[in-house]
Amino acid sequence: MPSDGDVDALRSAVHACRGCELWAPATQPVFSAGPDPAALMLVGEQPGDVEDRDGEPFVGPAGRLLDEALGAAGVDRSGVYLTNAVKHFRFEERGARRLHKKPGVAHVEACRPWLAAELARVAPGVVVCLGATAARAVIGHDVRVTEVRGTVVGETGDGVPVLVTAHPSAVLRLRGKEGYRAALDGLVEDLRRAAALLRPA
Ligand code: URA
Repeated sequence: MPSDGDVDALRSAVHACRGCELWAPATQPVFSAGPDPAALMLVGEQPGDVEDRDGEPFVGPAGRLLDEALGAAGVDRSGVYLTNAVKHFRFEERGARRLHKKPGVAHVEACRPWLAAELARVAPGVVVCLGATAARAVIGHDVRVTEVRGTVVGETGDGVPVLVTAHPSAVLRLRGKEGYRAALDGLVEDLRRAAALLRPA
């Protein structure tokens, strides 16, 4: 972990990370996208199958849904810093398929120094955690997303408000089912709320 340097220096250094075992089966680490500094920082869980192959966060199906939600909330994705709590894809092989496996607490903890270094460099005005894993990584304890979504659940060590919302994959799982529209609208509303926190009242 470089003690100085910008996000690009972190992005280069993460290729040598052996902080946990997830680096070995993964194609590559997936660091972040977006400008630094940035007013709004979004934290996801871990890269998915597409992200693992492309090396970029949120470029697969969940990323497309996130783009749609950001657009509907009036937030320009190109101005947002997007990252994940865990930088390597954790998966289980089933034949030719690689199935997403939720990262464990040890993976989140092992990856936390990267997230802390990003927070310091990006210096956001608001952090949005997409789902429970991101919330755990940023605020250090578990939350129930269904209970706290859309609210500020705490602050980073630097006093930056942390808002929690649903993970786009959780919304995606409802597609074609009852509740999809409400879940997507909820995500849009939470992103709108996060953007509003950046504006003086
Ligand atoms: N899900 C995440 O949490 N992050 C990604 O980058 C892609 C899917």
